[in-house]
Amino acid sequence: MRKKVTVVGSGNVGATTAHWIAAKELADVVLLDVIEGVPQGKGLDLAEAMPIAKQDVSIIGTNDYAETANSDVVVITAGIARKPGMSRDDLLNTNFKIMSDVVSKVVALSPQTILIVVSNPLDAMAQTAYKQSGLPRERVIGMAGVLDSARFRTFIAQELRVSVENVTAFVLGGHGDTMVPLSRYSSVAGIPITELIAPERLEAMVQRTRDGGAEIVKYLKTGSAYYAPSAATTEMVEAILKDKKKILPCAAYLEGEYGISGLYIGVPCKLGAGGIEQIVEIKLTAQEQAALQKSADSVKELCSVIGMA
Ligand code: 2OP
Repeated sequence: MRKKVTVVGSGNVGATTAHWIAAKELADVVLLDVIEGVPQGKGLDLAEAMPIAKQDVSIIGTNDYAETANSDVVVITAGIARKPGMSRDDLLNTNFKIMSDVVSKVVALSPQTILIVVSNPLDAMAQTAYKQSGLPRERVIGMAGVLDSARFRTFIAQELRVSVENVTAFVLGGHGDTMVPLSRYSSVAGIPITELIAPERLEAMVQRTRDGGAEIVKYLKTGSAYYAPSAATTEMVEAILKDKKKILPCAAYLEGEYGISGLYIGVPCKLGAGGIEQIVEIKLTAQEQAALQKSADSVKELCSVIGMA
């Protein structure tokens, strides 16, 4: 039997996630939204692309949560997106209400599911989903580090004119201005980038990574990025459905790891059939640890505003 993935939210991120999942033949997809007609139309359109893409998966769009029952993975993209001048944090109160509503409905119908949270502000929304769902922490995961690392990898590959496949990078911390791109753990074919790129140039690339979401919002004006966010989400879905045991930076609920407790924050995680199967603790310098703590403090502040700290 094929796996089943529900994507909640049929906007750009949700619909494009459905597209990548179907194009890779990972699972049957249910695309759900409160707006009538949009998930149905996009779902049908995507289903009609499958004979050309040569992929046997079913894709349906719906407004009815009953269709989502027994999903292996539920990706939550629902919520309002950023407009120019807005930070991810400006979305907090509206998306908190949406997240709470969505989580209670999907978990009632798919109690064994793994939730991947994509809505912003990411870490606070993952914290909301965890607390409202009652699921164990390994089954509620936030998507951010894969996206932020992909942006950093893109800039490194462009700078050094090498294949993106040669570049690995780690970005930890919250998905916001305080994120922590770890140059020391980023490499090109195993060579640390600190040996390949001058410090001031590297710092500029780190800053561009931190501003990566805003750079796209500024161009698009009416919305935020979606190709890279949905590709990042799909990599996590694939790691889970194929039980790949893949180490990816994800937002995870920490219980003492990295000296942080009771909070979602981006750290390296091993993803497999059980969701987060391990939180990988790497050694940080005092400066990196301080940056991670600062990022955690700002996530905690947001969580307090919505009573989720
Ligand atoms: C981004 O970084 C929207 O947070 C998303 O593009």
